[in-house]
Amino acid sequence: MKPIKVGLLGMGTVGTGVLRIVEGHQDDLQKQVGSLIRIEKVLVQDKSKSRRYPVEEGRITDNAWDIVDDPAIDVIVEVMGGIEPAKTYMLAALEKGKHIVTANKDLMALHGAEILAKAAEKHCDVFYEASVAGGIPIIRTLIEGFSSDRITKIMGIVNGTTNYILTKMSQEGASYVDVLKEAQELGYAESDPTSDVEGLDAARKMAILGTLGFHASLSLDDVQVKGISQVSKEDILYGKSLGYEIKLLGIAERQDDMISVGVQPTLVKKSHPLASVNGVFNAVYVYGEAVGETMFYGPGAGEMPTATSVVADLVAVVKNLKLGVNGRTMFVPYKEKKLKTAEQ
Ligand code: NDP
Ligand code: HSE
Repeated sequence: MKPIKVGLLGMGTVGTGVLRIVEGHQDDLQKQVGSLIRIEKVLVQDKSKSRRYPVEEGRITDNAWDIVDDPAIDVIVEVMGGIEPAKTYMLAALEKGKHIVTANKDLMALHGAEILAKAAEKHCDVFYEASVAGGIPIIRTLIEGFSSDRITKIMGIVNGTTNYILTKMSQEGASYVDVLKEAQELGYAESDPTSDVEGLDAARKMAILGTLGFHASLSLDDVQVKGISQVSKEDILYGKSLGYEIKLLGIAERQDDMISVGVQPTLVKKSHPLASVNGVFNAVYVYGEAVGETMFYGPGAGEMPTATSVVADLVAVVKNLKLGVNGRTMFVPYKEKKLKTAEQ
């Protein structure tokens, strides 16, 4: 059986995990899709950097067009992050009929409409499970698992970095600055961690979840956002003395025709399950009229959990490829919101 050839754009935190899983779980993957999935070429920025996972020199390139223009590559996995040049590479790959798996919420948030329109025109898949809640398969759950229900509320902790910071500040009295640095070293934070700590990353995720859950076109401008940069150790200690933990919660609700979405630090009673979601873990509650209350819990960031979602999307793309169908591309993108600075 002809192998499926994959081009991997990026070999940082997530890309390294993708290589480990695709190459380490090859037997199980083959049993599911009936062919070898081979990561043929890997794009990096700096070829001289030492890598945590060994890849033969011949497979690594610093020229994306070696991958995007290669007619033998069937699927592109984009885990390089940022808007450009990732967007140009993705659109060019779609133009050539290649399917895409991405973890890039910033790009999908700003230019998802254009990317998905091109995907539809070219009958290609663009899957983005890893863009929300790392290792929790919440996007496919909302699209497929709850398609029969009317979802009324989605609530949870959807940013690993801030939950890691709040947990360490609460449990160890650690300093905000030190723990943020630790989260960056562990590969949890975005390349610009302002997105994490100011709540924008969580807001993007809540807009995606609300859009999918409520079948609405939610803009990031519709999300009220407040991050954790102003939360002090004293705030956390005071909350604890009253029997609460501070968590950065995202809440998206609809009542009749009204939808509200917000992200903010929230006092959560210690007896509530969300108060015990610690470290890099995320948890998402989904309330449906028919199903009632459901909760999804798991690691929200980091190499292997995120790569699990990316490779699951890759398996789904390969299955579609074999069947000659496309699916699960629905997503109504939203506009970026400018961060207000202290001076404004
Ligand atoms: P990293 O910064 O760790 O890795 C980025 C990789 O892309 C590096 O290998 C880098 O090359 C390469 N790269 C970046 N820009 C270019 C360029 N212009 N040309 C060629 N190569 C380039 O990022 P992450 O792995 O943490 O994140 C990747 C994506 O996944 C982002 O969109 C992020 O938001 C998303 N994500 C991340 C999660 C996480 O836990 N880290 C969780 C969920 C989503 P080099 O190695 O040479 O520097
Ligand atoms: N920076 C993000 C987080 C990565 O900490 O949740 C996962 O989306």
